[in-house]
Amino acid sequence: MAGPRQQRKTVTVLFCDVSGSTALGERLDPESFRQVMRRYFDAARRVIESHGGTVEKFIGDAVMAVFGVPVLHEDDALRAVRAAAALGEEIAVLNRGLEADFGATVSIRTGVNTGEVVTGTDERLATGDAVNLAVRLEQAAAPGEIVIGPQTWALVRDAVTAEPLEPFQIRGKKQPVTAYRLLRVRGDVSRLRRHKAPFVGRRSQLGMLADAFAQITDDRSCGMFTVLGEAGVGKSRLAAEFLRGIDARTLTGCCLSYGQGITYSPTVSMVRQLLDTRDGCPGAAELMARDAKVAAAIDVLLGEQAAVTSPAEIAWAVRKLFESSAELAPLVAVFDDLHWGEPALLDLVEHITDFSRGAPILILCLGRLELLDRRPGWGGGKLNATTLLLEPLKPAETAALIDELVPTGSGLDPRLRERVQLTAAGNALFAEEMLALISESPSREPVLPPTIAALLAARLDQLQPGERTVLACGSVEGQLFHCGTVQVMAPEEHDVSGRLLTLVHKDLVRPDRGVLPGEEAFRFRHLLIRDAAYEALAKADRAELHELFARWLEERGTGPADFDEIVGYHLEQAFRYRCELGPAEEKSRRLSADAAGHLDVAGRRAMDRGDTSAAVKLLERAEALLPPQQINLALQESLIRGLAESGRLDDAISRAARVADWCAAAGDRVGELRVRLAGAIWRLQVDPETQFEQLRALVDQARPLIERHGDPAARAALEHAAGYLGFIRMQLTAALAAFTSGMEHARQAADLWLETSMRVMAARCIDLGPTPIPQALRWLDDAQAQSVTYQPQLDAWRAALLAELGCFGEARSLLAETLTQITERGLALFAAIAMQTAWRIEMLSGDDAAAEHAARLACEELDRLGERSRLSTRACQLAEALYALGRYEEARQWALRGLELGSTHDLVTQVYGLGLRARLLARNGEAGAALALAEQADGLAATSDSPQAQGNAALNLSEVLYLTGNPTRAQEMTHRAIEHYQRKGATAYTARAQRLAAAWASHRKPAPGIT
Ligand SMILES: Nc1ncnc2c1ncn2[C@@H]1O[C@H](COP(=O)(O)OP(=O)(O)OP(=O)(O)O)[C@@H](O)[C@H]1O
Ligand SMILES: [Mg+2]
Repeated sequence: MAGPRQQRKTVTVLFCDVSGSTALGERLDPESFRQVMRRYFDAARRVIESHGGTVEKFIGDAVMAVFGVPVLHEDDALRAVRAAAALGEEIAVLNRGLEADFGATVSIRTGVNTGEVVTGTDERLATGDAVNLAVRLEQAAAPGEIVIGPQTWALVRDAVTAEPLEPFQIRGKKQPVTAYRLLRVRGDVSRLRRHKAPFVGRRSQLGMLADAFAQITDDRSCGMFTVLGEAGVGKSRLAAEFLRGIDARTLTGCCLSYGQGITYSPTVSMVRQLLDTRDGCPGAAELMARDAKVAAAIDVLLGEQAAVTSPAEIAWAVRKLFESSAELAPLVAVFDDLHWGEPALLDLVEHITDFSRGAPILILCLGRLELLDRRPGWGGGKLNATTLLLEPLKPAETAALIDELVPTGSGLDPRLRERVQLTAAGNALFAEEMLALISESPSREPVLPPTIAALLAARLDQLQPGERTVLACGSVEGQLFHCGTVQVMAPEEHDVSGRLLTLVHKDLVRPDRGVLPGEEAFRFRHLLIRDAAYEALAKADRAELHELFARWLEERGTGPADFDEIVGYHLEQAFRYRCELGPAEEKSRRLSADAAGHLDVAGRRAMDRGDTSAAVKLLERAEALLPPQQINLALQESLIRGLAESGRLDDAISRAARVADWCAAAGDRVGELRVRLAGAIWRLQVDPETQFEQLRALVDQARPLIERHGDPAARAALEHAAGYLGFIRMQLTAALAAFTSGMEHARQAADLWLETSMRVMAARCIDLGPTPIPQALRWLDDAQAQSVTYQPQLDAWRAALLAELGCFGEARSLLAETLTQITERGLALFAAIAMQTAWRIEMLSGDDAAAEHAARLACEELDRLGERSRLSTRACQLAEALYALGRYEEARQWALRGLELGSTHDLVTQVYGLGLRARLLARNGEAGAALALAEQADGLAATSDSPQAQGNAALNLSEVLYLTGNPTRAQEMTHRAIEHYQRKGATAYTARAQRLAAAWASHRKPAPGIT
């Protein structure tokens, strides 16, 4: 990321000079003079630094210091004034020594001024009018005096006593400047800072948090603590107080209240904090360097890499990063405003809570009660989770808070005090804001608005126009906003940073860490304040400002990880407000098209991350922005996938039909076919029995037209469907060819999602098809290399191929490692699916009991997860293992179940199921029926080009022939089976066939212990 370049900031400059030093120099010998000056400079540096200032330079006998560089403090002006006063006291002390040693004293003149300067990162020098004015003020001061500029005065006036000087003219300014002579800095200023109440009450809640923290550190475990409560009741403050009192690394991330679909922004900010080169965690950076899987997922998360991944992979990688940091010191991760969290973010938080082990991590979730509407069971059923409802403050606590904010005896009418307490009803924010309004109202007898929103509106209404403008512009960006964006939105405002500083002083905003490089950032102290500022804007202004901001971000070109989501959101808002104000004209149309473009990109990226629910929201918003007559096919295709992948198959299918009809009506035949193909694939999932033929007919019908006129996207859709058909029929060479060419077209169409899903399908063709094993292994290596993110299924298939080669040890350990990875990511369904490899390994190694165990586990797990479509093959595999163990009745039951669940077009299930039934019939003495079924299965397998399926069917037939007394033909069939296996180079299959055939030939049953 680019480092900050030059920055404009508002800082406070302190300039002081020793008066009468020339005379002193004449009286002292040079060596003594140097010594005096060194003592003075040392004292100056010490005092300035102890107040958080930076000494910029010593010029002759002058000192220049800046407050607000490199970091801005909300009270820089006051710090500078205090430093100036303290320096005066230091000089008095110094003078006593000088008087004694040299019989001479010094006195200093000081100027303090606040204003905008330009600062760089390399040279720390601050330059600008503000510096020049500080020098002028210093010159205007008499020896021993401190003179402060007008802006400094405005910022510190509550805390100092000062008297105005005669206004004086300075070069380059029309208006004369009024400066002030500082008389005294009051010691009790912190009590006067109205909106910084010390924390009151909440002792038991802090205690609960402390207990939770003690538990995670003692047990070195992960725990989740959720604080729920109404807006403004004090959740964030409670968390801040808790964090101040513990020794831990803390990460914070806030969910955004706007722009549905911005899933990961809190996570992104936490990860950035961990990986920060200055104050991040070295352990986290090392993990990124060491573990390619973590690095790949995190890069996708941060938007630094385009690749297809999944929420599970991202959650896993974030957890690994958290754990790496927690190894060194306890980690507290605060997810604030979680009631706005997208489902994938809530899943991530739960994943970390459920899976993290062995490292002290506290996940602190803060949110309003709506969180429970989104996730009714939040935290429920977890042994390591606590949920706390934060009630309003008790009357005595509210009273204490009011006392802290406005000490008794400060002139607040006791009746008004009581009204504030009653109205606030224990809401800390409400109480604070009412008091602020009262103290800012000239009459001190204001009408207290009944709701917090009305109250905030009233309070903002009393700000200076310039301050209001700055606040309103900031509110358009959001709770967190950048100085630069405000400047863009309010070009006529010449002192944005000065205004911001005043707003900081009024405690409406606070300096914060920005997300745009090189930009100073501020955060509304409370979101409701931002809402009030935003509400005050006219719609026409909102439209204009949202657009200005979006265009400015667009021009910068880079930005936060969710750049498109954010730009899209702001353009969308601009468009909406414009539409509310009047009929759409040319400009609005451009706005909506641009907004749709950004949201479309964002939606497709969310698809790539597997964040389907966010993707659907983003894409639906994009769609809504386009004129009804305009069909964006790529967008529609993504939306169909998003709906289907998030489990809304019916919606996906009906949308596909609708879009295809639109295309047909618009005369776009290629587009129509493309969408029909996409829809047909999803229909096949719902109803494989009848939809198979339909898809086949559609592919045949679409092919000539698409091949002649189609664009890459249409060709990719065509090949995808063709590959699918081939795969189901186990015509794997054809399927592989279709997927391979489909991948190429998808790449040309820049459709990463489709390309990746076709690569996974192609890998299955490689695994089950005639590609010889050594070549197949190389293919899998290449496939992995083509995607930066981890694809565990590729490893599962690699393990299966290794087993077919007879490398059982290697296969078992690779599979075990893969299953660990899958389970670590919480992917239960996927783990159940991958268990079929365990079955294959053990069946080939001859350990039928282990094979039975693996297949049973897979079936039970799939059953438990309610997954039907994958169960048919697994049921047949279990039947196969039971058969090998001689448990024929159980085998029969499972084979029937498999056939019942599987479609008649599903060749694998058919070959397995029929083959099993045939052998069982043969064992039952029903020779004719047995042979007929075994031959039917063999015939089916012959339509496939899977060596394994063909070999298995031949081997089954061979067994039936042995059992029905035809050893000669049986032997022939064994040879045929072996030929098939050898084509694949599957030596383990060959060995198994030989083993079994030898047993059959000697009339021994293949029972346990014999094979
Ligand atoms: N116990 C307390 N003592 C003193 N001030 C408090 C206390 N609780 C809250 N406040 C102040 O009240 C204001 C609102 O609190 P806070 O921001 O924590 O609310 P919240 O519950 O997080 O609201 P939201 O749901 O909108 O995020 C803040 O200015 C905070 O400093
Ligand atoms: Mg809060």
